[in-house]
This record gives sequence, C-alpha cells and structure tokens, in this order.
Amino acid sequence: MPSLSPDGPDRIGEAVRLLASGGLVAFPTETVYGLGAAADDPAAVARVFRVKGRPTAHPLIVHIAKAAALTALTPELSEAAERLAEKFWPGPLTLVVPRGAAVLPSVTGGQDTVAVRVPDHPLALALLGAFGRPVAAPSANRFGGVSPTTAEHVQRDLGRAVDLVLDGGACTVGLESTIVDLTGAAPLVLRPGGVPLEALSDALGETVHEGARDELRAPGGLPSHYAPEARVLVCEANALDSRVAELAKLGARVAVLAPAEVPVPGAARASLVVADPSAYARALYAALRDFDAQGMDVVVAVPPPASGLGHAILDRLSRAAAPRPESD
Ligand code: TXA
Ligand code: MG
Repeated sequence: MPSLSPDGPDRIGEAVRLLASGGLVAFPTETVYGLGAAADDPAAVARVFRVKGRPTAHPLIVHIAKAAALTALTPELSEAAERLAEKFWPGPLTLVVPRGAAVLPSVTGGQDTVAVRVPDHPLALALLGAFGRPVAAPSANRFGGVSPTTAEHVQRDLGRAVDLVLDGGACTVGLESTIVDLTGAAPLVLRPGGVPLEALSDALGETVHEGARDELRAPGGLPSHYAPEARVLVCEANALDSRVAELAKLGARVAVLAPAEVPVPGAARASLVVADPSAYARALYAALRDFDAQGMDVVVAVPPPASGLGHAILDRLSRAAAPRPESD
C-alpha cells in the first residue's frame, strides 16, 4: 500500500528496492511530485506511460543526483549545458541534450535527445543518490490533468497504480521545471517554469527565447493541459468584478484566484488570494484541485505581472483555460 505519512530517509531503502525490482515510486521534488521508474528498465518505463495514460511518443524527464552523472547520458556536453547545470542544479531546470547510447529510446519517445534534471529536494536527492541509477519521472498525475504538489494529490490521482508514494510535504516551487533545449543553434525554452527566462539569459550572456522546435516534442506545450474539471478563465484585475457578476448571474459557482492587492468580488463563492508570484506558483495547482473539490463551475484567475515566475504562471493558466475536447 502506498504511504501517506511524512517520510524521512528511512523510507529510502524501501523505495530503492522497489525501483530496482521494476516498481514505480512517486517522490517529491521542489517543483511537483514525480512518478519514478528506473530509467534503464524498459518494463518499468512502459508502466509509467500506462499508469499516467500518456502517449508513448511523449518523452520523460530523466532525474539524476549530480550534474556529473549527465556525462553518462549524453555523448557531448556543450558549454551552455555545463554552465546552466553548474548554475541551476539542483533546481527547477531541465536540459534537453543529445541522447547517449545508454538512454532507452522509450524514455525519449524515440527522439535523439534526452531531457535531464537534478531536482532540489532532500528526499529526491536521497533517493537518487541511494539508487545510483537515473530515474525517469513525469509529473505524477494523469495525462492532461493538474500536476500534484502534495503526496495526497498523487494518492488521489494514481492510488494503487503506484507502489510507494514518498511524502516530502508540499512542493516549494509548485510549478514544473523550465525546459531548455540545447540541441539547436541557439538555446530555446520549450516550457517556462521555475527558473525564469531572464535568469537563463543572464547566465548565458545572450537573450534566451521561448518557442517550439516541433510541437509534439513537449506535450506540456499542447494548448490544453494542466486542466482541472472547472472551466478556467484568465481575467485582468479591472474586469474581475463584472466578469464574476456576469457568471454568477448565469447561475455558475465562481471561484477567484488573485494577487492580494486585487479585491475579491462579493459574488465569488470561493477565493484564494496570494501575496506574490512565488506564493501564486506554490498555491496554483492545489487551489485548482480545491476549487474542483468544492464543486466550482468556473475559476476566474487574475494573473500576476508577466515577468519572472509570473510568465510561467500565466503559461499554465492559459493552458488550463484553453478549449479542450469533452473526453479530455
Ligand atoms: O518539474 C518537472 O519537470 C517535473 C518533475 C517531476 O521533475 N516533471 C515533469 O515531467 O513536469 P512531465 O513528464 O510532466 O513533463 C515533461 C516535459 C514534457 O512536456 C515532455 O515533452 C518534455 O518534458 N520533454 C521530455 N523529454 C524531452 C525531449 N527529449 N525533448 C523535448 N521535450 C522533452
Ligand atoms: Mg506533466
């Protein structure tokens, strides 16, 4: 049975034994919880895709304990990769680099590149260090849904399909890692996240742009993703009152998510106000889940300013707000 108790290093031995025998272990990182499998075990990797309900062409991120382990996963380390690894690892940054022969093609969805990161969480680092092999892990939620930021979220989404859930408390960043592709002529951010674009540009001494080399390479880049049950609307602060009133008049149960300086309209049935962008990021996914649990029909979200972490928050809100097929 998966565990829900707050876990210390004593659970690591059990987690390592499970990973070594093809098991799936969900573990905390600073961004979101991951659904981990030994990256060099084809059957375990296949199970990750099945449990998550994820198309096999959508690659997984490989987690390692130390930047030095990157050399075993890629044939060539660019100067940019070395610099970013040194500056931001452990931390919420994923590097896409050429795939080494040791990396299973199923982990990368058949692509000739691999995404790698060193997470910044004591339990994750203890697990990766003790296991001593790379761990492939997507976010521990069902495909297309809201990422888990507590062990309880994982438990609710995946239940018995996972062999162990390591509980490391609530994630401190709360949004997924920034993914930067270093395999082209210039670095390209495929998914904004915990490390702001500005910080990457500073570190590399050139302006780093965001974009897609190919839409299917980063499914988090599909328009509808990170979506709760409730409809999500992104709304500027000055339009909030009228928007909420309009929806409430139509009979919708409306929840509001907004920065603290924005007054919450009286017609809102639930609300969460957050002090600053990092509090916004930390609270976002749990808030979307809570609003669903409270039976809200619509979440109206006022985004933070679009710079720094605010950019990643707006990205996730927009994807949660994107039109989605009924079946999603
Ligand atoms: O913060 C995170 O990155 C979390 C924690 C658990 O580390 N993981 C995470 O994994 O968000 P997942 O699978 O939910 O999202 C991984 C993203 C996907 O959009 C995938 O397409 C992209 O990484 N990705 C993985 N390998 C890639 C590659 N070789 N090239 C381009 N994108 C890749
Ligand atoms: Mg995900």
